[in-house]
Amino acid sequence: SLGSVPAGPPDAIIGLTDAYNSSTAPHKVNVGVGAYRDDSGKPYVLPVVKVAEARVIEKGLNKEYAGIAGIAGFVDRSLEFAYGKNSDTLKSGRVKGVQTLSGTGGLRIWGEFWKKFGGDGILLPDPSWGNHTPIFKNSGLNVETYRYFDYENSKLNIDGMLEDLSKASPTCVLLHACAHNPTGCDPDMGQWKAVSDVIKEAGHYTFFDCAYQGFASGDAEKDAASIRMFVEEGHDMALVQSYSKNFGLYGERVGCLSVVGSDADNAANIVSQLKICIRPNYSNPPVHGARIVEEVLSDAALEQDFRDQCKEMSERIILMRSLLRSTLEGLGSEKDWSHITSQIGMFCYSGLNPEQVDRLREEFDIFCTRDGRISMAGVTQGNVEHISSSIHEVTK
Ligand code: LMR
Repeated sequence: SLGSVPAGPPDAIIGLTDAYNSSTAPHKVNVGVGAYRDDSGKPYVLPVVKVAEARVIEKGLNKEYAGIAGIAGFVDRSLEFAYGKNSDTLKSGRVKGVQTLSGTGGLRIWGEFWKKFGGDGILLPDPSWGNHTPIFKNSGLNVETYRYFDYENSKLNIDGMLEDLSKASPTCVLLHACAHNPTGCDPDMGQWKAVSDVIKEAGHYTFFDCAYQGFASGDAEKDAASIRMFVEEGHDMALVQSYSKNFGLYGERVGCLSVVGSDADNAANIVSQLKICIRPNYSNPPVHGARIVEEVLSDAALEQDFRDQCKEMSERIILMRSLLRSTLEGLGSEKDWSHITSQIGMFCYSGLNPEQVDRLREEFDIFCTRDGRISMAGVTQGNVEHISSSIHEVTK
């Protein structure tokens, strides 16, 4: 009988939204989940998404299955978006992919595929997105970490990272392509080159997780620079893309998992195996959101609108970073808050400890993850004072 099933704990990130929703405090703030809000704190649908969606509906397409690998046109556009329209490697046919249930679905399919054909383990940065570890453990992999963040100085621990990667026996190394979640701290291009060299030398396989292309710096080309450099450097590698943040298509679950094979046949063989992993999981992916992305990325004018609107979102976040920092400093906080403005992407890895986070929630109705990660997307001109004074209070 199932009578003894214990209650499970709420999810560390998504569970915060439930807690926030149940709070009745008028000044409550959700800076937990990484989901964009406009300056009035409301969820935001990009105007270009509305236009593309109307066009998709206008076409009156049927609701047939897309096929296990999803919508081919979406996958093609997605590969161009990540690898670059002019990529010789892409043109050579060595890059192939499948549509996935956003980033998470692609990560899980990759985990299962890697377990079957690659190896027993995966190396993640310390720290990494909270869902990475359970995804890969549930895929049957041993999860280990390499040093990534210098917690003391709130910056990248590049020496530790290179050392750990060089010492590990050959395995799959997960890298955040841009806007590392949760730290908002990325290698610069020189450091990426060093990472590429070490990965090559050690014989690792590279797996990029790219959830913020266009959202990180406001320039989708720049945000793809790490991926493109690894391709140039000749790595066999894989990439998972999420369209949740940059297109704001969170609930539509739009993503793409692709591989750069040793040649076109190798890439096709890998995709055939990815499909075998997908079929018993969810059979095939949903069509609506992928059609929207395909519509945008197939039309030069819409694509430009997308790039502009995505940039606007990232600019609001950058503005909120300065405002949060200056408000904290204005309140007389003596802590060093410079990392708020030096980090990029959706999050501020604030350095708050779990006790301070608990106080924020209990005394000030501010909900963020216990690692002190604050979703900058939830900060607005209207709540920045409340957030700053509360942070100041718990860090005194
Ligand atoms: C986050 O880290 O908040 C986002 O990636 C959303 C999620 O699914 O956790």
